[in-house]
Amino acid sequence: MIRKFNLALFASGSGTNAENIVNYFAKIMNINISCILCNKPDAYVVERAKKLKIDYLLFNKQDFQKNAKVESYLLEKNVNFIVLAGFLSLIPEWMIEKYPHRIINIHPALLPKYGGKGMYGNNVHKAVLENKEKETGISIHYVNKNYDEGNVIFQAKTDIELTDNVESIAKKVQKLEHKYYPIVIDKILLNL
Ligand code: GAR
Repeated sequence: MIRKFNLALFASGSGTNAENIVNYFAKIMNINISCILCNKPDAYVVERAKKLKIDYLLFNKQDFQKNAKVESYLLEKNVNFIVLAGFLSLIPEWMIEKYPHRIINIHPALLPKYGGKGMYGNNVHKAVLENKEKETGISIHYVNKNYDEGNVIFQAKTDIELTDNVESIAKKVQKLEHKYYPIVIDKILLNL
């Protein structure tokens, strides 16, 4: 029997990864992107959700507590797998307990380096550049109660040239994210 997956995407920013994931799974019948959840009212991902005709929920800190709006929304949408795509808030314990090994995140660097609170977006690339790293990349990992510390599932690397700057590194990393995140999600679900 083919299992059906209902995915929720959590995002706080532009949402290029969310859009890329929605498009990738559009033709895969048993994997449904049920909704996008966003904790920043002005985040562009909300516009993308509207354009893509994906149900979305905007929520605040209170809504993210146990027995509140986010929990009931996930239940209502029958969500059984959660993908963080540029989501910049800590995942509460109730959610980790409720979705064991069913929440994954993408980080724009080669963890365990350049992870932790405050390490997101260009902050990461700036630190990588300042430390004169010769390579950077992406890490896809399970989510636990600490930022960027869950087991790594997949990494991909890209070289850093002497001519690179924050913007060019961001572009290289984004290319890897868009190429690999949907494929890795697909593989994880296949093995569940
Ligand atoms: C991505 O680069 C993702 O790796 C990063 O936020 C960006 C979101 O881009 N996530 C983190 O830094 C998490 N610590 P997007 O909104 O265009 O998908």
